[in-house]
Amino acid sequence: MEITIKKADTLKEHPDDSSLGFGTYFTDHMFVMDYAPEKGWHDPRIEPYGPMEMYPSSMVLHYGQAIFEGLKAYHTDSGGVQLFRPRDNIKRMNRSGERLCMPPLDEDFVLEAMLELLKLEKGWVPKADGTSLYIRPTIIATDPYIGLRPSFTYRFFIILSPVGAYYPEGFDPVKIWVTSKYVRAVRGGVGEAKTAGNYAASLYATKLANEDGYTQVMWLDGVDLKYVEEVGSMNIFFVIGDELITPELNGSILSGVTRDSVIQLAESWGIKVVERKISIDEVYAAHADGSLKEVFGSGTAAVISPVGNIKFDGKEITIGDGGVGPLAARFFNDLTAIQYGKAEDPFNWIMPVG
Ligand code: COI
Repeated sequence: MEITIKKADTLKEHPDDSSLGFGTYFTDHMFVMDYAPEKGWHDPRIEPYGPMEMYPSSMVLHYGQAIFEGLKAYHTDSGGVQLFRPRDNIKRMNRSGERLCMPPLDEDFVLEAMLELLKLEKGWVPKADGTSLYIRPTIIATDPYIGLRPSFTYRFFIILSPVGAYYPEGFDPVKIWVTSKYVRAVRGGVGEAKTAGNYAASLYATKLANEDGYTQVMWLDGVDLKYVEEVGSMNIFFVIGDELITPELNGSILSGVTRDSVIQLAESWGIKVVERKISIDEVYAAHADGSLKEVFGSGTAAVISPVGNIKFDGKEITIGDGGVGPLAARFFNDLTAIQYGKAEDPFNWIMPVG
C-alpha cells in the first residue's frame, strides 16, 4: 500500500525540552488509515495533526472498543533517532486487537508507516536528557451504530508527542497506594489487553490515592484481592533477599515490553528473576523482617520508577531509606543507555529510524 503524504501548511513552534512533561504537545503530522470489511485496511496517509471528524454514534464512544500502544523514539549522541523494540509493541497491539474483536494489522506495514511518519517528524525528537518522542498508535471502532456488537469499521492512527518524565517526581521515588476495595481487572476480563477501558477503570481509585498524597495505585487481583498485579501505568518488581520478583502474567496483567526488558537484563547480570504470585501480605512481611530491599515499576512512559513508600490498609511502609535503590538505578542506567544509543545493544532491541 502506498502512503500518501499531505504536509501541514504551517509548522508549530517546538516547546522547550525542559518544559515537556508528559502527553501535552503533539507534532505537526499524524498517520491515519481506515478499515472496512470489503476493503481491509486502506487509504494509509500522513496528514496534518488535527481534529478528526466522527459521528457521535461512533461505537468507540459508547462501548470503549479502543486499543492503543506506547513506545518511544530516542535521540542519540551521534545525531540519529532510534526506536526500542517497536515490533513487540505492534505484536501486542494485534493481541489486544484480537481480544477486542478488531481486525489484525500487518506488522511490517505498520512499522513502515511509523518509520515514514518519524522520518518526517525527526526534528520533533527532543534532545535533552531523559526526553524522547512518545509514539501512540491507536485503533478505534468507527461504525455509527449504538447496538452492542463489534464494529465493522475502524480507524488506526499514530500520533507523536515529545515528552519528558512521566511522573512529576522524575526519577525520585513515587508513593504507591494499595486498594483492596477497587480492582482494575478480573480473571477472564481484558486486563492484559491495552484497551482504553482498563485505564478508565483505574481513574477513581487513582483519584482517591492522589487525594491521600500518593501518586499511583497498586492493584491487587480481582478474585482474592490479595495478590499484587500492577501499578497504574507500569509493571512492578520487588527485590526480596537476592531475588527479583514480579507478578506472573496471568491474563489480567499487561505484558510490558519494559517488564520483559528488565527480566532479560537481570538474567544477563546473573540475577535470579522469579515470576510468580506475590501477595501484599508477603510484601509487608518481607518489609517487617528486613528482606524487602527495593520496589520499582517499569513501563514505556515511566521507564524505571523507584517506589519509596507503599500504603495498604492504613499502614504505610518505607522501602529501604525511601531513596532510589541500587538495582533500580542500575536498571534505569543500563536500559536508558541502550535506548539512547550510549551502550551496546546485545539484545537486538534497537531499530534505527533511517
Ligand atoms: C505507556 O507506558 O506507554 C502507557 O501506555 C501508560 C500510559 C498510562 C501512559
